[in-house]
Amino acid sequence: MDIITSVRELRERLRREPDNVFVPTMGNLHAGHIQLMRLAKRRAACTVVSIFVNRLQFGPKEDFDRYPRTLQADAEKMREIGVDVVFAPGESEIYPERQTFTVDPSAELQHILEGAFRPGHFRGVATVVLKLFNMVAPRAAIFGKKDYQQYVVLRDMVKELALPVEIIPAETVRAEDGLALSSRNAFLSAAERAEAPRLYRILREVRDELLADRRDLAGLEKQALGKFGKSWIPDYVAVRRQSDLQPPASGDRELVILGAAKLGAVRLIDNVELSL
Ligand code: PAJ
Repeated sequence: MDIITSVRELRERLRREPDNVFVPTMGNLHAGHIQLMRLAKRRAACTVVSIFVNRLQFGPKEDFDRYPRTLQADAEKMREIGVDVVFAPGESEIYPERQTFTVDPSAELQHILEGAFRPGHFRGVATVVLKLFNMVAPRAAIFGKKDYQQYVVLRDMVKELALPVEIIPAETVRAEDGLALSSRNAFLSAAERAEAPRLYRILREVRDELLADRRDLAGLEKQALGKFGKSWIPDYVAVRRQSDLQPPASGDRELVILGAAKLGAVRLIDNVELSL
C-alpha cells in the first residue's frame, strides 16, 4: 500500500492504473468506510482512498478543529483489507491558495435539509470532491447513503458537469442496535450512546406508517419530531422523494425519510428509504 501526500506523486503513481475506484473520506475510519473500500476492491484493479478533513465544508462554529485525525490507525485498517493507494494530503496541497472557484450545487438541493442547517456545506463538499476527482481521475467513486443528500448532490454534479466518473452508492452500515456508524459517535457519552438509536427508530416508525397507508406527510413529520426525548434537539424529519429530495407528489413511490437531531453536543443524521 502506497501512502502518498503530494498531487504530483499521486498522478505519477496512478498513471499506470486506468481501472481505479476511489473512496473519498475524512479518515477516522470505521466499519462503514471499510465497507465502501471492500466494495471498491470487488469492482476494480486498484482501490484509491483519500483522507482529508476538508475545512471548506465545515461551518465556522462546527467541529473542524476537533474532528478526529487518526492516520496511523487508519493506515493499518486499510493495509489489512488491501487498499492500493492512500492519498493523505496536507491542507496546503489541496488549498495552496484561497479557493476562489467553487462548485455550487443547485439552490433547490443545497439549501434544503442539511443545507438549511449547514450553510455552504454542500458547496464545500462538491468543490473538494471535484478537486479530488481531478487529482485521482477515477473510473468510479463510492459514496455511502448514510449521507444521502451528499450522495444526491455528487451524483447530480457528475451528471450535469459530464464528469467521466461513475458514482456508486453504498448501503449504510449500522451498529447492532441500529445506530448508523459515524466518526462523530465517539463524542457521545455512555448515556447518550444508549439513547442514540432513537433517531433511526423514529425514522423507521415513519416508514411503517407510510407503508400502512398513512399519507398525511406533514402530520407524520410533526409526530416524529415529538418523539425525541428531552435530551434531544431535533433539526428535521422529512419525507422526500429519492430522485431529487423534494416533497413527494401524489404519484411518487420511491421515497426517503431523512432526519437530523442534536444529542448533547453531537449532531446525528440518518435516513430510511422506502418504496410504496
Ligand atoms: P466521511 O464522513 O469520512 O465519509 C466518507 C464516506 O463514508 C462517505 O461516502 C460517507 O457517506 C460514507 N459513510 C460514512 N458513514 C457510513 C456508514 N455508517 N455506512 C456507510 N457509509 C458511510 O463524507 C465525507 O467524509 C466527506 O464529506 C467527503 C465526501 C470525503 C468530502 O470531504
